[in-house]
Amino acid sequence: MDHFHHHSGRLRCEGVDLIDLAKRVGTPAYIYSRATLAHHYRRMAAAFAPLAPLICYSVKSCGNLAVLRVLVAEGAGLDVVSGGELHRARLAGCPPERIVYAGVGKTSEEIADALGEPDEAITGVSRIQHPPISTFNIESEQEFQAVAHVAESLDRTTTAALRVNPDVDAHTHKFTTTGKAENKFGVDLRRAREFFKHYSGHPLVKLSGVHIHLGSPIATVEPYVAAIGRVLALIDEVARDGVLIDTLDLGGGFAADYRTGQSLAAADYAAAIVPLLHERVRSGRLRVILEPGRFISGNAGVLLTRVQYVKTTAQKKFVICDAGMHTLIRPALYDAFHFVWPADVAPQHEPPPTVEGHPTRVDALDLPGLERCDVVGPICESADFICQDRLLPPVARGDLLAVFTAGAYGMSMASRYNSHPLPAEVLVDGEQATVVRRRETYADLVQHEREAQA
Ligand code: LLP
Repeated sequence: MDHFHHHSGRLRCEGVDLIDLAKRVGTPAYIYSRATLAHHYRRMAAAFAPLAPLICYSVKSCGNLAVLRVLVAEGAGLDVVSGGELHRARLAGCPPERIVYAGVGKTSEEIADALGEPDEAITGVSRIQHPPISTFNIESEQEFQAVAHVAESLDRTTTAALRVNPDVDAHTHKFTTTGKAENKFGVDLRRAREFFKHYSGHPLVKLSGVHIHLGSPIATVEPYVAAIGRVLALIDEVARDGVLIDTLDLGGGFAADYRTGQSLAAADYAAAIVPLLHERVRSGRLRVILEPGRFISGNAGVLLTRVQYVKTTAQKKFVICDAGMHTLIRPALYDAFHFVWPADVAPQHEPPPTVEGHPTRVDALDLPGLERCDVVGPICESADFICQDRLLPPVARGDLLAVFTAGAYGMSMASRYNSHPLPAEVLVDGEQATVVRRRETYADLVQHEREAQA
């Protein structure tokens, strides 16, 4: 479900006309819908309600402070994977007990920061503003030792979950599969048992959780079901060794609907997952954490881009835009599909509105009078495309295109490659559109160099 629809041929987000908005804020620009963010969070919370999970929104998918504030106000916790994301989580006002800190390469400085002792030179904040977070997701023996070492030197206590790699194939793009034996994430099941035996008695770092994250996005429930079966067996095994596991963090990977109607709803995931865990949760033996990113932010954002040129070669028609791989890298990196459509269309080319559970938006690709083209950016690389060989209504120089389902891993993976300033971000709430990150300027591009060379 999303709140981006054409009305009388003009694309709107909630109550805001995006053609007018683009004139005001310029392009490229990421536009987020507050209603969609809240809707998706609530959907997940309702579907998994029997498990009363702590839902920690994955900051990496879209970490704008305004987006985080919407979700924190809804009751979400946050999943962070770096000191920088932790900084965002704190600025967004997330209570520390709702922050989980994952990530394979935490530095000692980041660990100290999470334990409430920031390095002021890096974070720019003092200890007083800095309550410790409650849980680390640990990825290796050395990392446990590092967390323990920092906790000892600061005399702080914390809890930790061990990230287990259950060797389950999530059938995602090879770059976003994380739960297979050959991936760098977590420790395997056999080592996990030894790990718990060895480290669970630590006086300062209470190791009492299991964390998994299988990949992203995961289009079926089977990988979750298989992995949960394996980690529950592990939890029972380590219980026989005298180690109590009270928390299971299932990670993220819940899909966003890129084509509409073709991906699982929160209720579909919950229908398979809840029965596996319900009894343990009901009897107070287990607490569940979820880390959805894309499910919440994916359809909550579109990327607006202006057509600069239309160029027809002997083989192809290229629609050259001001957004490209520097703005949205997913097509170049993962061959990802994003639905692209003009913001302003003739009545016969208006895409049908998306209705939850019904395939509608890609049906627009069957409308008469479409032309096949590549939508590309200004970057000096042939991988610089938003989509290839796609049917679109006729577009001309100056037209505005919308790239849908761009809220997740769009702006958060954007770069300044070819010295393009980062785009603006706008949060829409009803009739109100607020710039929540101003477009960068050329001065921003060179600011750090000029400071260093002053
Ligand atoms: N938890 C952990 C430990 C993760 O590594 C991730 C994503 C998530 C949660 C959230 O996953 P989600 O619910 O958003 O699927 N850049 C890629 C996706 C990389 C995901 C990395 N980890 C893309 O654009 O598809």
